Amino acid sequence: MIKPHGADELRPLFVEDAARRRTLLEEAETLPHLLLNSAAAANAVMLGAGYFSPLKGYMNVSDAIRVAMEMHDNNGLFWPVPCLNMSADAGVINGAGRIALRDPNVAGQPVIAIQNVTSVETLSAEQVKLITEKVFGALDQDHPGVATFTSLGNQVIAGPIEVLNYSYFERDFPDTFRTAPQIRAEIAANGWEKVVAFQTRNPMHRAHEELCKMALEAVDADGVLIHMLLGKLKQGDIPAEVRDAAIRKMVELYFPENTVMVTGYGFDMLYAGPREAVLHAVFRQNAGCSHLIVGRDHAGVGSYYGPFDAQAVFREQVPEGALEIKIFEADHTAFSKKLNRVVMMRDAPDHAREDFVLLSGTKVREMLAAGQPLPAEFARAEVARILMEYYQQSTAGDKV
Ligand code: ADX
Repeated sequence: MIKPHGADELRPLFVEDAARRRTLLEEAETLPHLLLNSAAAANAVMLGAGYFSPLKGYMNVSDAIRVAMEMHDNNGLFWPVPCLNMSADAGVINGAGRIALRDPNVAGQPVIAIQNVTSVETLSAEQVKLITEKVFGALDQDHPGVATFTSLGNQVIAGPIEVLNYSYFERDFPDTFRTAPQIRAEIAANGWEKVVAFQTRNPMHRAHEELCKMALEAVDADGVLIHMLLGKLKQGDIPAEVRDAAIRKMVELYFPENTVMVTGYGFDMLYAGPREAVLHAVFRQNAGCSHLIVGRDHAGVGSYYGPFDAQAVFREQVPEGALEIKIFEADHTAFSKKLNRVVMMRDAPDHAREDFVLLSGTKVREMLAAGQPLPAEFARAEVARILMEYYQQSTAGDKV
């Protein structure tokens, strides 16, 4: 199996030993408590679950800026997006060397991790701007990732952590949330060697289904890891439980048995386009995947990124040898009315745009909200039914 990123062994920061977890929770009672924001809590989950291996915790300002500017930290580790614990008010720390981190996303705000504080620094407005611009390629508050990042506060609390739980992900998505070691173990148990990862934050329509099948065949893989984001999304994106049900139905009905693992990870969507695609590649390598599908507008939002910027970044900005995972570059994929099947546009050079069934995400949401059936060329009927039920449940306007 492919080796993890930056080390021979995966280094998940979740404390496996239950007795040690109890000891740490007792210790937490005696420590200053810092209430995390959702972004920092999601980083803790990813660190705990081994996806962010070999990071040992949250970065300091110098590493964060290096990562934002050059995609590696001060030790030379390749890393595309700063892993930060930012706060508007770090006063509670008051010089303490160890603090308990509380989870904002679970009732009662339980302790999710314990951090050794190696530094508390203040990011200047210029530094916030620099990181935002490099990571998101935008400074515009209409960009949901920029709006979130710039609202996190300017205190940067660096240092290694030990993770005590996986927030709400295990409880809310017991069948779907998986850690990187769990996925590696399942890949090994399946006897798979080549595995294609499919990142998604959406339900999967026919184009996505075919993309996975095309990638499987093109790289001669043993299986596909559908790996969906289970964390926070912007308004209008479809919630994870609905997506999960729709994806599972599609796999059950339209994929050969034992060729797909349907799984998810606990992270909030950044909408950082190319940089997020590179982060996606890092953590799929950690999960044991040999390939990652990167198609049109991967991790994008609005028109902030060119449709294939997330492919170009791997060619232009990821140094040779920095990653072992390979990218399967997918062209825009859609149903061809001429050929009566889903194709990549590059494989149908004689087609005009009208020869394809093309629906934007917004159009799909509008149709579902209005109770209009999705065309069979676009979505599998059984998948569309699950989405329609969700849209018809309550005020449809909220969901568009
Ligand atoms: S993402 O934000 O998680 O990337 P989404 O779930 O829509 O969004 O996309 C998952 C993957 O499928 C990404 O690699 C994306 O580029 C790719 N993709 C989605 N739709 C298409 C399409 N019609 N043609 C080509 N690639 C696509």
